[in-house]
Amino acid sequence: MRLFLAAFALVATACTTAGDAPRETRMVAPILTTPDARDTHSYARPEVARVTHVDLDLALDFEAKRVEGTAALDILAAPGAQEIILDSKGLEIAGVTDANGRALPLVVGAEDGAKGAPVTIRMGDARRVIVRYRSGPDAAALQWLTPQQTAGGQHPYLLSQGQPTLNRTWIPTQDSPGIRQTWTARITAPEPLKVVMSGDRLTPEGEPVGPGRRAYRFAMNQPVAPYLIAIAAGDIAFRPLGPRTGVWTEPAMMDRAAAELADTERMVEAAEALYGPYRWGRYDSIVLPPSFPYGGMENPTLTFLTPTFIAGDKSLVGLVAHELAHSWSGNLVTNATWADSWLNEGFTSYFENRIMEAIYGPRRARQEAALSFDDMMSALNEEGMTDSTTRLNLTAADGKPEGGVSGIVYDKGAVFLRTIERIVGRERWDAYLRSYFDRHAFQPMTSARFLADLRANLVQGDAALEQRLMLDQWVYQPGLPSNVARPDPAAFAEVDQAVAAFSAGGPPPASFQGWTTAERLRFLNRLPRELAQPRLAELDRALSLSTAGNNEVLFAWLNLALANRYEPAVAPAERFLASMGRRKFVLPLFQTLWGEGEWGRAIARRVYAQTRPTYHAVTTGSVDRVLGVR
Ligand code: BES
Ligand code: ZN
Repeated sequence: MRLFLAAFALVATACTTAGDAPRETRMVAPILTTPDARDTHSYARPEVARVTHVDLDLALDFEAKRVEGTAALDILAAPGAQEIILDSKGLEIAGVTDANGRALPLVVGAEDGAKGAPVTIRMGDARRVIVRYRSGPDAAALQWLTPQQTAGGQHPYLLSQGQPTLNRTWIPTQDSPGIRQTWTARITAPEPLKVVMSGDRLTPEGEPVGPGRRAYRFAMNQPVAPYLIAIAAGDIAFRPLGPRTGVWTEPAMMDRAAAELADTERMVEAAEALYGPYRWGRYDSIVLPPSFPYGGMENPTLTFLTPTFIAGDKSLVGLVAHELAHSWSGNLVTNATWADSWLNEGFTSYFENRIMEAIYGPRRARQEAALSFDDMMSALNEEGMTDSTTRLNLTAADGKPEGGVSGIVYDKGAVFLRTIERIVGRERWDAYLRSYFDRHAFQPMTSARFLADLRANLVQGDAALEQRLMLDQWVYQPGLPSNVARPDPAAFAEVDQAVAAFSAGGPPPASFQGWTTAERLRFLNRLPRELAQPRLAELDRALSLSTAGNNEVLFAWLNLALANRYEPAVAPAERFLASMGRRKFVLPLFQTLWGEGEWGRAIARRVYAQTRPTYHAVTTGSVDRVLGVR
């Protein structure tokens, strides 16, 4: 406990309470004060004064595309502290008062890129401050959709994306993953829209407030990293999937969404059997309109999902297992800084695969792990085995808030944990990991802290084991340690033969349609990157690739086809890019087009002019850089 400020006591509360916990019983989570836990992407100085709790009271204004109202912040401060620094980006702050309504002086500093601007409040002795504000016109966390961008086509829609540092564009608080906060919210919206958030729903039907508006109230009584505060509002409905699981989506999407998510309750049970109780009460999902920029986002109690994971056969529900796994790795034990994103994403990718094994069996899990291993190898080869971006613990220069290269943060992170599992045995490893989540529940984590915990509780001074694990090399060195656990080479035996046969001039594999999604992806990803037009035409015709209903397969194909300037793929690529805004699909396709000289650049410019207004700021931010827009 020496690492924590003594004043920051941990007050335990019952697991989940139905309502908004009284202030005296709210849990205050500790912060880390070691240098490796210092978040350079936040202005907060939590060792002086930190936010412990946020009460939001906001109106959604779909005409102005803003949220407007108040954020009341409870503060824990070192004795005599007179100031608190918050994060903000583009917020229009009307004023700050103490709990008695007395105005408090504030200074908004200069804006610095993604970090935004510090808001320094001269709070004096006040330990609760109330910020009256509205979000700016281009708040990057928020996407305000027109009715045309929804499945129903009748009503507007709002969705948010907070990770990593976007919530400061709509909530004035200390936006750092190591500064956990409980929160409540009261949100008003025009009827018939419903509002959902990443906490307990206190007013399922909402309460009427004035003509044509309703208020919805929420509470998160366990301290969470502020990037996990999330909101969605639209013409949405709910369907239960199990006793504590369910799905929100637009009515037109409900049947397909519920069918794809049918295994959710079993996944929660499998996850609990692996690494301990699910501590967040309900586990619901919301299947969003297709402009959502990510595959999924692990917002507590309410995972946000892209509709592009719906394939009709549950073949892409690894995404759901992934977001669920974050309920332990990420939401319970949280990277203190974005330089240690691997502690969230690598652990989660490992855990995801264990859930997939428990529900769908070892064959599918082995195949998906082998695909992930390939993604790691591609990243290592692309970045270079000695490049610092291939470290798990990123250096200050590489520790971008977005968290680095996914093939490293996600896949090398997972391979590391799989390597430990293989060395110490599954039983011992699982017992350790379960105890790790318990020991560090509701706390921030750093690479050094994890290694210290692993040494204290797993290695326990066994020098031979210490040597076999190569822990420091895995976490702090670039490249790939020699003890790496490699995937079973037989995982894709048939597919790899088909790749060899096709590469040698043979026909496309006749068995393709019967293959698993992982097998199809392995095949497409392992084909020679340069293919002649007639060979592409053969593949397209025999395997119906341009009309694939599985978006991962469609994406892998379109990327290969466009990289070979295969004209018949242009129309399906245009349709795909106009149909959704998931950055993982959108960005590489534009990059590929851009890399193909004037042929591709003309297509990219034409398509982007049409699709840009439909994408979320997360996606346009990345694509703009490729196309040199702005
Ligand atoms: N937490 C991430 C999404 C994220 C990461 C948002 C970094 C902002 C910054 C989420 O859990 C995730 O990893 N999503 C993946 C899905 C996955 C199965 C790898 C995605 O969106 O593709
Ligand atoms: Zn994740």
